[in-house]
Amino acid sequence: MTSSARPLLNRRLAGFGTTIFAEMSALAVKTGAINLGQGFPDTDGPEEVREAAVRALREGRGNQYPPGPGVPELRAAVTAHQQRHHGLSYDPDTEVLVTAGATEAIAASLLALVEPGDEVVALEPYYDSYAACIAMAGGTRVPVTLRPHEGVFRLDLDELRAAVTDRTRLLLINTPHNPTGTVLTRAELAAVAELAVERDLLVVTDEVYEHLVYDDATHVPLASFPGMRERTVTISSAGKTFSFTGWKVGWITAAPALVTAVRSAKQYLTYVSAGPLQYAVAEALALPDSYFTGFRDDMRARRDLLTAGLEEAGFGVFRPAGTYFVTTDIRPLGYDDGFAFCRALPERAGVVAVPNAVFYDHREAGAPFVRFAFCKRHEVIQQAIERLSTLRRQL
Ligand SMILES: Cc1ncc(COP(=O)(O)O)c(C=O)c1O
Repeated sequence: MTSSARPLLNRRLAGFGTTIFAEMSALAVKTGAINLGQGFPDTDGPEEVREAAVRALREGRGNQYPPGPGVPELRAAVTAHQQRHHGLSYDPDTEVLVTAGATEAIAASLLALVEPGDEVVALEPYYDSYAACIAMAGGTRVPVTLRPHEGVFRLDLDELRAAVTDRTRLLLINTPHNPTGTVLTRAELAAVAELAVERDLLVVTDEVYEHLVYDDATHVPLASFPGMRERTVTISSAGKTFSFTGWKVGWITAAPALVTAVRSAKQYLTYVSAGPLQYAVAEALALPDSYFTGFRDDMRARRDLLTAGLEEAGFGVFRPAGTYFVTTDIRPLGYDDGFAFCRALPERAGVVAVPNAVFYDHREAGAPFVRFAFCKRHEVIQQAIERLSTLRRQL
């Protein structure tokens, strides 16, 4: 401990204390509440992928530093996946970089591409690491708020255009979007792409929920629009697609100059990570289409179960078109402060949720919204619903 009055945490990170997930997960443990706060599945991904990891460990593949850009098998699998699912072709040697989860991909991209003073336009509410990473890069965050409209959070394209200034360096996009479950439409993405081209902006697009899209929504990668391939860093991760969030295997695909820039930052963050797991994820990415559709259909059934239960319990529900989160409005239950609601919920109903306000700069815009995760077993969701159904009676 220093005797100086100077705060230990530097100015860039002041205000970024413990994440809400740590606080809420600790509360879940303390109270024995069902944790629908944090987005991790309560069952592991495919057995054959786990076995592939064990094999790699035993056979000594990846137990020492793997190559900086990622093992060739995984880079090849990432490019094959982009081609098979999205019709995008990338060179595995120059256009892929394996990272420690999407989280490191986000950090390395922002640290590499943003100069102090640059503005970064991000959709609000945003995944919490965006704000911290923009701050660490010395950038200025310019949030564009998704607003509720007829049961869906929508991007206002005029607001997005108005947010871009001469100081804007990049657009940070996330679709399918956490926490709202919004999937940007082809027309919206085309407008985002046009804006990026017109204003000569870089785009970092977080598409970790690319396979979790329901009903008639479709996921269209931003990199597939005219003029976007050379200016877009696309981020994804095995954590979400294969239910191995603890493995922290992610990647970017981008044009060679962008990959080189991001790699310059990444090499001083972790250098490399998860050697044997990279081989296993290479096998996972090659799973047949039935895995991906089965995973999506299974998650859609859980969405339907939880959204129906939340509606029944009296919440306003924004039915998500993608991701494994559902945002709710607590005002119909007689509350308007998501923070207070979530802090009290474990004691009152034995369930943990997350207040959306933590994902906003404009806290008031997110105040009445609360997020639940449905990547949990049916019986767990069912039990949570039963507990939540007591809330109305407590009014
Ligand atoms: C939008 C979004 N991006 C990135 C991540 C982090 O991904 P990873 O666990 O691969 O670092 C998450 C995890 O919840 C997320 O929701």
